[in-house]
Amino acid sequence: MTNSTGGPALPQQRHLVTQIPGPASQALLERRGRSVARGLSHVLPVFVTAAGGGVVVDADGNSLIDFGSGIAVTSVGNSADLVVNRVIEQVSSFTHTCFMVAPYEGYVEVCEELNRLTPGDHDKRSALFNSGAEAVENAVKIARHATGRNAVVVFDHAYHGRTNLTMAMTAKNMPYKHRFGPFAGDIYRVPMAYPFRWPGGPAACAADALDVITGLIHTQVGEENTAAVVIEPIQGEGGFIVPPDGFLPGLAEFCRQHGIVFIADEVQSGFCRSGDWFAVDHEGVVPDLVTTAKGIAGGFPLAGVTGRAELMDAVHPGGLGGTFGGNPVACAAALGAIETMAKEDLPAAARRIGDIMLPRLRKLAAANPAIGDVRGRGAMIAIELVRPGTLEPDPALTSQVARACHEQGLVVLTCGTYGNVLRFLPPLVMGEALLTEGLSILEDAFAAR
Ligand SMILES: Cc1ncc(COP(=O)(O)O)c(C=O)c1O
Repeated sequence: MTNSTGGPALPQQRHLVTQIPGPASQALLERRGRSVARGLSHVLPVFVTAAGGGVVVDADGNSLIDFGSGIAVTSVGNSADLVVNRVIEQVSSFTHTCFMVAPYEGYVEVCEELNRLTPGDHDKRSALFNSGAEAVENAVKIARHATGRNAVVVFDHAYHGRTNLTMAMTAKNMPYKHRFGPFAGDIYRVPMAYPFRWPGGPAACAADALDVITGLIHTQVGEENTAAVVIEPIQGEGGFIVPPDGFLPGLAEFCRQHGIVFIADEVQSGFCRSGDWFAVDHEGVVPDLVTTAKGIAGGFPLAGVTGRAELMDAVHPGGLGGTFGGNPVACAAALGAIETMAKEDLPAAARRIGDIMLPRLRKLAAANPAIGDVRGRGAMIAIELVRPGTLEPDPALTSQVARACHEQGLVVLTCGTYGNVLRFLPPLVMGEALLTEGLSILEDAFAAR
């Protein structure tokens, strides 16, 4: 093992000492092949020994630039000081009691923070869970219980997780759903307001999409049967799809008029990632329920459902919970992460990242017709690759560019229903030098193809 001390003090530089993967990672890959189930894939063929700020260090001593944040999780950077300090303090006091057996203050503090930070100044309550999927499942349970209705409306390109209910809510078959059915019922899918691919063009997208969606809910589901509309304010795995202005407020208003619970799944877009604390803040939309996970706790497994007190408290005592949900160490980590976000003004840091990345990516797109669209907000940014002059997705080129970046020590992720989107999710604490070096590696990858 090399350089196993991580955190913000790690040298913030890319430094390759072997090919990617190097021999130590290759040996671990072989062990992995013999011991870990094939169903778990990985993006990068390197094993990590340390990470911090904007870099990830592997078992061969290579230092890579991180444009992935462990899929939008380590927004405050790996092993951030305030997270580590709080975790050490908590882990040496107690590690678990189960909040449902004997409660502790950290859980309550995280709920207070969630109630304070999520949009709207109405009376709120929160409940904590282990993963984004579990948060989404519980938000649906709460909405169904509170409304006495069953139907749940979701969107094309949606991703909500891998449990049975959330697989049903997720759009993409391969790899998430293929041969894993039968799926939970009473889930209805409607088109997403996807400006780049909207048949009538981006300018018509918001109004058209609202017409189509509300029409489908009326004719095929029935407003009075609909418990909830669940939407990612910026879609994540489905392709970093940013709906046009006006769409989310229109959808929220439709829900309000019909007593439908409007659930914003902010698991990926929340906690400063989009340049606001939550992506719905961009247009002042106030959801009835918000689901959170990923960036909330600096890498520890924690998730939340936060929402209107009358909805959250509709559920009978004992109706929500789980053995590990709101684990005290994860809560301590969340309090450290939230404190970091506030102290370092990470919403502003995300906007700064967007201000640096978007112009360079637009310039890259102008020179490369295979980049059909550049989109995103804050530090949640993507490019969509197509056959030049068409909307035909180019997943092969997407993988080729991603691989070229990995070989040069830049961690990038792909996504999208058609596998043709490169997404960029740097830790929000990443410095400008690493950011611009990462962009240069991406530019070189396009130039070399
Ligand atoms: C919007 C959204 N919801 C839910 C999930 C599921 O979260 P988890 O993987 O923690 O279960 C994800 C994960 O990528 C997500 O992006």
